[in-house]
Amino acid sequence: KKVAVIMGGYSSEYQISITSGNVVYQNIDKTKYEAYRVYLLKDKWVLVDDTEKEYPINRADFSVNYNQSILKFDVVFNVIHGTPGEDGLLQAYFQLLGIKQTACDFYQAALTFNKRDLLSVLKPYGIKTAKSFYLNKGDVFTEQEIIDKLGLPCFVKPNRSGSSFGITKVHNPTELLPAIETAYKEDHEIIIESFLEGTEVSVGVINYQGEVIVLPMTEIVSENDFFDYEAKYLGKSQEITPARISDEIHAKVAAAAKKAYQVLQMKGFSRSEFIIVNGEPYMLEMNTIPGMTNESILPQQAKAAGISMTDLLTNAIEQA
Ligand code: DAL
Ligand code: MG
Repeated sequence: KKVAVIMGGYSSEYQISITSGNVVYQNIDKTKYEAYRVYLLKDKWVLVDDTEKEYPINRADFSVNYNQSILKFDVVFNVIHGTPGEDGLLQAYFQLLGIKQTACDFYQAALTFNKRDLLSVLKPYGIKTAKSFYLNKGDVFTEQEIIDKLGLPCFVKPNRSGSSFGITKVHNPTELLPAIETAYKEDHEIIIESFLEGTEVSVGVINYQGEVIVLPMTEIVSENDFFDYEAKYLGKSQEITPARISDEIHAKVAAAAKKAYQVLQMKGFSRSEFIIVNGEPYMLEMNTIPGMTNESILPQQAKAAGISMTDLLTNAIEQA
């Protein structure tokens, strides 16, 4: 089978996606699959060969003229964080073209990439969340009403973004407006949340060989004020797998993460973030195209469960 590993994308996360995509490409079982790297960037969609030579993709059917013939792919392995890979656009495109893909469907992608909508949909299922305040660009508000509702500190986040781009932890009132401006650079929708003081855990839920499983959880201990970009990618955090939590709390978090996966009828990868406050998990978000670099959390969790990177990728391709 011919597998296109798509990477890049149009968001601030494109560089991380390229790192993730190359790791996926390297670890795909080449005895089973013919793998190709495809960069989907703002200015070009190209297949790149091992000499970095580029071949333009025909967007009408996602084929490519490669080595004097028309190459068509059986499966797309989506490693594009952010738009258009994680928000449903490409999922819908491949679905229309009838090309199988590793990611969840377009609706689940669009929903989960929208923090506000995801948490609102999950709330009636008993999934707890921080207190929140929403803004769309142009909305009229006062800083005081946000502070009265959420208290300080609070988190200002772009509603649709990843890798902590555009996120600020606001400690005092004067930081609120600049934080909102920063978040608007990433998205015209903003979610502001109350600060949850507790233990942060990252929870991978995947469908492995036909069964929905919760991978060993990772406890996040950030050296920075929160799990920001530097803490995530520049070593300023400890990621402890399995998390140092009691069996009872583990069961509660696992149940919440699995429930979210199941009620949304997810497919493929998911990695949800929770803060455990007084033994209760509060959900922050769900990532459906989680980082796949060697340092990334989901591959570490799979490894802790005895699933190698290659097995993880084979499973995803077979499911697609
Ligand atoms: N958005 C980043 C890549 C992650 O969730 O791992
Ligand atoms: Mg995220």
